[in-house]
Amino acid sequence: MEIPFHKPYINGEEEKEVIDSLRKGWLTMGKKTVEFEKEFGNYIGAKNAVAVNSCTAALHLALRCIGLKEGDEVLVPSVTFVATAEVVGYFGARPVLVDVERDTHLIDLRDLEKKITERTKAIIPVHYSGQPADMDEIIEIARNHNLYVVEDAAHALPSSYRGRRIGTIGDLTAFSFYATKTLTTGEGGMITTDNDKWAEKIRVLRLHGISKDAWKRYTKEGSWEYDVLENGYKYNMTDINAALGLAQLKKVEWMWREREKIANMYNETFKDYDELILYKIKPDRITSWHLYPLKLNLESLKINRNQFIEELKRRGIGTSVHFIPLYRFSYYKKLGYRAEDFPNSEWIFERVVSLPIFPGIKKEEVEYVIENVIDIVKKNRR
Ligand SMILES: Cc1ncc(COP(=O)(O)O)c(C=O)c1O
Repeated sequence: MEIPFHKPYINGEEEKEVIDSLRKGWLTMGKKTVEFEKEFGNYIGAKNAVAVNSCTAALHLALRCIGLKEGDEVLVPSVTFVATAEVVGYFGARPVLVDVERDTHLIDLRDLEKKITERTKAIIPVHYSGQPADMDEIIEIARNHNLYVVEDAAHALPSSYRGRRIGTIGDLTAFSFYATKTLTTGEGGMITTDNDKWAEKIRVLRLHGISKDAWKRYTKEGSWEYDVLENGYKYNMTDINAALGLAQLKKVEWMWREREKIANMYNETFKDYDELILYKIKPDRITSWHLYPLKLNLESLKINRNQFIEELKRRGIGTSVHFIPLYRFSYYKKLGYRAEDFPNSEWIFERVVSLPIFPGIKKEEVEYVIENVIDIVKKNRR
């Protein structure tokens, strides 16, 4: 059997929406993008939702809104995708890496508080694998130190924290619709915020800083004339991407339930094996199950994580690692970060592997993954 790590769930509904966009002849940002923003905002319960072409762009624009500048510092977890920290660098500001908790891989509050300085301007919590970070505590710390909270919700659709949807809590929240995410538009992103002024600023900045509704200038409602209000970016979503998003949004709850079923199947078997460490979900939150991270109890196994991945690969099972901690990369080493300062992140990195979890995977395929994980464990017990 060959089981990929991920496969997007695309069918006739997406095809129909995209073809509709093509037939109408409006390919770039237009009515479908506006409709997608409206539907997405309604689904999340967010006051404003603005579509862009990636989560990286969303994070960048969010940091523009809070006025990040050269010399500032932003706290980000060390276990994340590089985009979370890279956007801080766009401003000449410093990403300050914070260790994460061993059982949840979420930003560690004690380390976070230790790393606040007079230059700290914001915190970017990452809702790792879809599990919301400790938002109440993070917001309280932010309030006490006058910091902004920009959430990296690339994994967190749909996720909830103490009864509140992710996308309605922090100052600004950035979502990703990248090909492997829980809702995909190929490439894409969305920013949600309660702040109307920021939402308006993002609408302007995402399209070269030109005045509102500039995309209408090729329609009957529009005009050729426009003004440039700020130095902006080319970050707009296109209607073809939004068409995919509209179709995906209709089944976002169903896709989530499917991932949850797969996670339950994995958990149900793996919980009985001392060689495996289940990923912990805190009781007051709902995860999107974007990822299924499993950790190896290396103390009771004869193989390491890399050998485990190789063995699964040999048996046709695709996996991934989320994430290589940022301080392990050459660029972050140059910024002065060292592995010794992030003991939990290192501990996780040596042990973690992400198993396939996506709607459309067959029950037999999940069973095949389970059987093989268990077989590898049994053959490699210490
Ligand atoms: C935690 C996290 N943040 C940000 C991103 C960037 O998302 P995008 O590819 O939409 O820019 C990703 C993408 O993998 C991610 O995993």
